[in-house]
Amino acid sequence: KDGYDLVVVSNRLPVDFTVDDEGHVDWKRSPGGLVTALEPVMQRSDGAWVGWSGAPDLEVEPFDADDMRLVPVTLSATEIERYYEGFSNDTLWPLYHDVIAPPAFHRQWWDAYRRVNQRFADAAAAQAEQGATVWVHDYQLQLVPRMLRDQRPDLKIGFFNHIPFPPLELFQQLPWRRQVIEGLLGADLIGFQRAGDASNFIRAVRRLTGYTTRGPIVTVPGGEDRPSRNVRAAAFPISIDSRTFDELARTPEVQARSREIRADLGDPEVMMLGVDRLDYTKGIRHRIKAYGEILQDGRIDVEHVTLVQVASPSRENVGAYQELREQVEGLVGRINGEYAEIGHAAIHYLHHSYPPEEMAALYLAADVMLVTSLRDGMNLVAKEYIAARSDDRGVLVLSEFTGAADELAGGALLVNPHDIDGMKDIIVAAANMDVREQRKRMRRLRRRVLADDVTKWSESFLGVLQALPSRDTPRA
Ligand code: G6P
Repeated sequence: KDGYDLVVVSNRLPVDFTVDDEGHVDWKRSPGGLVTALEPVMQRSDGAWVGWSGAPDLEVEPFDADDMRLVPVTLSATEIERYYEGFSNDTLWPLYHDVIAPPAFHRQWWDAYRRVNQRFADAAAAQAEQGATVWVHDYQLQLVPRMLRDQRPDLKIGFFNHIPFPPLELFQQLPWRRQVIEGLLGADLIGFQRAGDASNFIRAVRRLTGYTTRGPIVTVPGGEDRPSRNVRAAAFPISIDSRTFDELARTPEVQARSREIRADLGDPEVMMLGVDRLDYTKGIRHRIKAYGEILQDGRIDVEHVTLVQVASPSRENVGAYQELREQVEGLVGRINGEYAEIGHAAIHYLHHSYPPEEMAALYLAADVMLVTSLRDGMNLVAKEYIAARSDDRGVLVLSEFTGAADELAGGALLVNPHDIDGMKDIIVAAANMDVREQRKRMRRLRRRVLADDVTKWSESFLGVLQALPSRDTPRA
């Protein structure tokens, strides 16, 4: 066997590994959007997935799982610190999210990022058969397309950026901006969440490389032994597995659990809900501040209204995340101290992550869903909430600064999370919205989310990629 005809490359594999006392490695599937999106295409083709094994120095041989080949990449503790926690999550993440937190620039982190990207590229090149399609995912691996192309000019290479692509004025802070652009331009097709991300990218290409662009197409000049190539940038807004989520939320178990949650909360008139990774991009502090002021103003009270905030632990070794946790927990403590009564918490704060069944029950229980990100590539929580509401009830409050707002403006109440007064008014309006208006809006939202599911997303990306004219370049 020469290799696989579709190779997916992402920082994380769609499985979690456990190692027992005797050193035996076991794995189980981790629920995630990407694996759901790619499962149908993996089943149809002969697919391999390259990704980090998830723990320091953990070496696992490639193995078959369900319908694909899993190829774990090993990282040392230092590489995790510099490539993952450092460059990916303390340089690129804040830089690409409008520098909400200051990005740190360290040359050692960049060196590790390059080396680790090379390892992923080598692993992918070793799996791909002649003329195969390789689909690289997200900001952790932006150099992989070019590294792959250098070894394997025969491949069709796609890249999808799951997070925003920043405006040039921010992107150009990056000392290695040119290398990152060149890395991405190794792909034939570069996908973004929003049209605005694609145009930010094209503008950065024009200003930082001087290459010719025509609309969304970049012409990368050839060299002595290689022809010039066209690279296309376009928006492919990601979604969720809407049908499955809708069905899950209709099961009697989830419905019963949702009633139980409301009963446990003391049957409030209005239950509000926030669900986020504990990340500074999510606007959790802004949301809680607004909520606290509404209580203070006496526009709502804890006997009738409560807020459940699920904040799932994330990137806990990165300083900005540790600081955020302190701030959020301090704020929650102060608001509860001030406004809670016995039997009536103002905020139920849950620093955990939950399985999809529990999430569906929470969404179903919530009258108002608060998504107030300061910047967010898409935000799939908003789409999950909608998919769960087959009763056509509930109100989605949605930040303008999410990719989802491009699609859901018709039914959601849009907010600017920096405008605390404006956001307070919208939250109060959401809490008081009559049932007819809720239905009208939720129906509109559901039509949209149920029509555009994640399988359509991956098929449309791969459809465009595979329809691009192929090169008959031999394997290098
Ligand atoms: C975002 C990124 C993903 C990342 C996820 C969880 O959605 O786009 O690439 O996997 O956050 O973050 P983590 O650092 O735990 O992988």
